[in-house]
Amino acid sequence: MDFVDEILYGEYNYYTIDSSEGTFLAVVSSSYEDLGSLEKKLVSLGLTFVGTRESEPEDWFKNIITEPFEMIDGIIVDPENHDLSDLKGKIILKIPQGLAFGTGLHQTTKMSADYLRKYLKLGMDVLDLGCGSGILAILAKKLGANRVVAVDNDPLAVDVARENAERNGVDIDVRLSDLFSDVEGKFDIIVSNIIAEILVERLKGAKMFLKEDGGVILSGIISPKINLFENYNIIEKTVIDEWCALVIKI
Ligand SMILES: C[S@@+](CC[C@H](N)C(=O)[O-])C[C@H]1O[C@@H](n2cnc3c(N)ncnc32)[C@H](O)[C@@H]1O
Repeated sequence: MDFVDEILYGEYNYYTIDSSEGTFLAVVSSSYEDLGSLEKKLVSLGLTFVGTRESEPEDWFKNIITEPFEMIDGIIVDPENHDLSDLKGKIILKIPQGLAFGTGLHQTTKMSADYLRKYLKLGMDVLDLGCGSGILAILAKKLGANRVVAVDNDPLAVDVARENAERNGVDIDVRLSDLFSDVEGKFDIIVSNIIAEILVERLKGAKMFLKEDGGVILSGIISPKINLFENYNIIEKTVIDEWCALVIKI
């Protein structure tokens, strides 16, 4: 279903269900119109439409997961407000399951989180480009970052990221911005989990937002698209399932 990932990734919350009757795709949107045009596109590509149903967004996602889970080693995501005070030495991210991407369950978020933990040193400045729920920006702050700016071009994501920053008691500058358009200053790390085609075009422009020794963490790259980045100075690469993450020096 690579082509489905390419169409939906970063734009919709979706997941697949394998059953004895085949593989089903579920897509969530707050807009019927949006789903209507998406349905036409997916059907034209050979998928069979089964149906739609209405549900409260919060309840819908809560049906999927409510219990805390270890996103990566030592970093726990708590979708609800559990008392986790006895979990010593772990970083806790309070991220309710919602309509903004960034629940902590996707491989691309996990790979970015892993690289943040590896490369982020105390006091660094971090830009999260395409912040969704704000999960990576919040993690950056909890790992000891100084200035953290988180941007998204989706107003819903901006609202959710702001709420999540407050929920986690961290100070993050969350902005509505198309990539770098409303960003100023320089950063030690730019982390971005956005589909590859969007990123590769604008990556050269990232240099003016990077400090001298800064680097870029990218995920959201579907494996066959990795060659789009072959002209960049790739420091490290991780592949999980069909997804890649890169650390790049520009
Ligand atoms: C795959 S999600 C990543 C969310 C979160 N950072 C994570 O790693 O789980 C990608 C996010 O990028 C945002 N996005 C896509 N294109 C963008 C653009 N041109 N400028 C800013 N944000 C964008 C989407 O709205 C979405 O919230």
